[in-house]
Amino acid sequence: MPPEGYDTSGLGPSHEAPPVHDFLDRSRFPVDEWRLVEQRPEPGDLGLTETLFSVGNGYLGLRGNVEEGRDAHTHGTFVNGLHETWPIQHAEEAFGFARVGQTIVNAPDAKIIRIYVDDEPLLLAVADLLEYERSLDLRDGMLRRHLLWRTPSGKRVRIDSTRMVSLTQKHLAVMTFEITLLDDAAPVAISSQILNRQDGEDEYHVPSSAMGEGDMAEEATADGRNGASEGGDPRKAEQLTRRVLAPQEQVGDDETGRVGLGYRCVDSGMTVAVMADHDLRTDNDHSGQVITGEDLAKTTYRIAAEPGVPITLTKTVAYHTSRGVPSRELLDRCRRTLDRAGEQGVDELWAEQRSWLDAFWERTDVQIPGQPEVQQAVRWNLFALIQAAARAEGQGIPAKGVSGSGYGGHYFWDTEVYVMPFLTYTTPRAARNALRFRYSLLDDARRRAQQLAQKGALFPWRTINGEEASAYYAAGTAQYHIDADVSYALSQYVGATGDTEFVDREGIDIFVETARLWADLGFWRTEVGGTFHIHSVTGPDEYTTVVNDNLFTNVMARFNLRRAAEAVRTLQDENPEAHAAMVRRLDLTHDEVEEWSRAAHGMAIPFDEHLGIHPQDSHFLEREMWDLDNTPLDHRPLLLHYHPLVIYRFQVLKQADVVLALFLQGENFTPEQKRANFEYYDPITTGDSTLSAVVQSIMAAEVGYHDLAYRYFLSALFVDLADRHGNTTDGVHVASTGGVWSALASGFGGFRDLGGGQWCLDPRLPDAWESLTFRLTLRGTRVRVTVRQQELELVVEDGESRLAFDVRGAEAVVALGEPVTIPLEGQGPRLEGEPPAPSGTRRADGTVISSIVPGA
Ligand code: BGC
Repeated sequence: MPPEGYDTSGLGPSHEAPPVHDFLDRSRFPVDEWRLVEQRPEPGDLGLTETLFSVGNGYLGLRGNVEEGRDAHTHGTFVNGLHETWPIQHAEEAFGFARVGQTIVNAPDAKIIRIYVDDEPLLLAVADLLEYERSLDLRDGMLRRHLLWRTPSGKRVRIDSTRMVSLTQKHLAVMTFEITLLDDAAPVAISSQILNRQDGEDEYHVPSSAMGEGDMAEEATADGRNGASEGGDPRKAEQLTRRVLAPQEQVGDDETGRVGLGYRCVDSGMTVAVMADHDLRTDNDHSGQVITGEDLAKTTYRIAAEPGVPITLTKTVAYHTSRGVPSRELLDRCRRTLDRAGEQGVDELWAEQRSWLDAFWERTDVQIPGQPEVQQAVRWNLFALIQAAARAEGQGIPAKGVSGSGYGGHYFWDTEVYVMPFLTYTTPRAARNALRFRYSLLDDARRRAQQLAQKGALFPWRTINGEEASAYYAAGTAQYHIDADVSYALSQYVGATGDTEFVDREGIDIFVETARLWADLGFWRTEVGGTFHIHSVTGPDEYTTVVNDNLFTNVMARFNLRRAAEAVRTLQDENPEAHAAMVRRLDLTHDEVEEWSRAAHGMAIPFDEHLGIHPQDSHFLEREMWDLDNTPLDHRPLLLHYHPLVIYRFQVLKQADVVLALFLQGENFTPEQKRANFEYYDPITTGDSTLSAVVQSIMAAEVGYHDLAYRYFLSALFVDLADRHGNTTDGVHVASTGGVWSALASGFGGFRDLGGGQWCLDPRLPDAWESLTFRLTLRGTRVRVTVRQQELELVVEDGESRLAFDVRGAEAVVALGEPVTIPLEGQGPRLEGEPPAPSGTRRADGTVISSIVPGA
């Protein structure tokens, strides 16, 4: 996708950032501040564009596969949480290993609308296209495609189609397909399908020959299997080589064109039903027919098309899934969804979508005037983010949203640390839903803690159904920090919204059970001055695992312990009844709470006096330094080229760890410590995880590396749009899209939430920007923050609260009708160049301590 000559390699430790501010080929993807537009189809990067043009609502996601269904890298229709289970086979067993694998199921595909003119199929890869444009409109959530096709017999056919997944009706998708012959009359056939294509058929190949109706019938015999992944890359979904969806019911109505299929997942027992309504309108003569089989439901039309007489097909589709209800009943639910949609009509459904998105942008839009490329990319990221989160209620937010099968559709800490800030400060209802989902996993988390011989609750590192699904404990279960991440997100949510009702009834259980886990997991070492230690854990950086006193973990656990103690005391003071109920429910003692405070106070926070930095863990600085300068780019990411044991021996980071702690718990570090830590860790951070660049951008901005902050920001901004990690085909990097918002609000905007209603703004506007505007919803009041080179402006757009901000030490109070403007003297400290290489990486003579790269 990037134009030739553009270097899109990772920024990495040597900071070889390309000197460009735009990574897209603009002859193909022109700049448009509200749309992602493609003006030329390219068979070479179908997987990427399928992800970029996917539409979804957090529950249902349709990849940007073309309607004809043929030219595809990966067909994808995902329903959040619809998963199959399978026994994890450990070659060498051990007690407590995760047992049940969980993988998102590629649901039956209802996107397919094939057309034939003069019995010639439209196949995009070989079609003679006189006009082509595909666009995803971020204002109305519609994917549109316009084609002017010259058929092999020389007839010009105009085809305009639309696709949307409703943000207001979570089970519903709406598609339209309009065909007009421009020159001569011709027979036209349309075949609209729901296809359970689970054997990989149709994938990874572009057809070379035309296909007739007879070929379509063969697809009905497809033997369903799941999975489309390749071995070796842990970021892809696991491959299941057996049939996953057992057919249960088929529905077909010749009169109305309504068709439906019901299935049950063989092992997990989950059920899914999909149903489609068809409405064909044309003044041409036509007839229709419905055919259903176990894996195919097809509504076909034969039309004697006259030139200039349009044919319009509207296809409305409903998906329902369940863990307990038979698919027969789900088909009834589909009927109800479709009946209601039919009564409303597409115009109203489109209008509903538009007004949902109008309200969304009113709350969330970030404006960067004069920077159209950045503006477009920012909006695409925010749109991708809400497509992952909007209607995820009752479920988690998968690492890829509903845009792809990467990471098996699992939920990680990505939600709490990367996605939740955006939701909490712009769309609190969705934040609440995400927290309620965690709350619903508490019983599983309690059981998991017991399996690991601990008290309290331990949330799974990755999961769909609540059970730990990480087979590799070193980079999975050992990331105990997920407990603190959940508590942190809960605390931010409560502080920002004032939703004490939620914390009093449910959230408090999360605080208590996670604090219990830390108090039990850690231990007192009296011989080192009575400090509290947490051993054998893995921090966010997965290139160093199972270590003692990981800085991030200890700092976040300390927060968790303190916050839980505070929440219990507040509850006791402010809602004694709820407190009494909680004490009974959780069997909580006063001594326990006291112990949390003591453990927090005594928490070991490793610090190296000589270097003035916080070691990532107690032995981190004793490790050899990885020679990143001499690691060839084709050996990146390291995880795909080196055995974990090789990587673990070195000081080299996959992603921000200490640097993330500096951001999340900034008030616990001095400015000097932040700078020294950043300078030490930044050059040895590979950024092999997309969760890294956004955090490095935020902290680079804070400590004063403004240019670097901007480059990291651009790198994150284009992670998917320019496929900078080479795996966007597996789905959107949702954590990074959330991080883009944090990099804008907290990096350049300098927003920090210190808890308890203390909000700070200390901006770092990039030199090239005239201004940056973003919105924060705090205590139900929405404030517009505009940072300019010389001033900061705060305007309340909606809501009654008076909000006080600390702007570089001075208080600024803003209320409806009372905007404030605060002069800014510069944009914070500024350091020249790049952070120096960490001391200790090189010998006195300047040579690097070790190089493990063969031949390097
Ligand atoms: C990162 C994790 C992250 C996961 C899912 C991994 O590459 O190291 O921190 O949770 O991806 O996005």
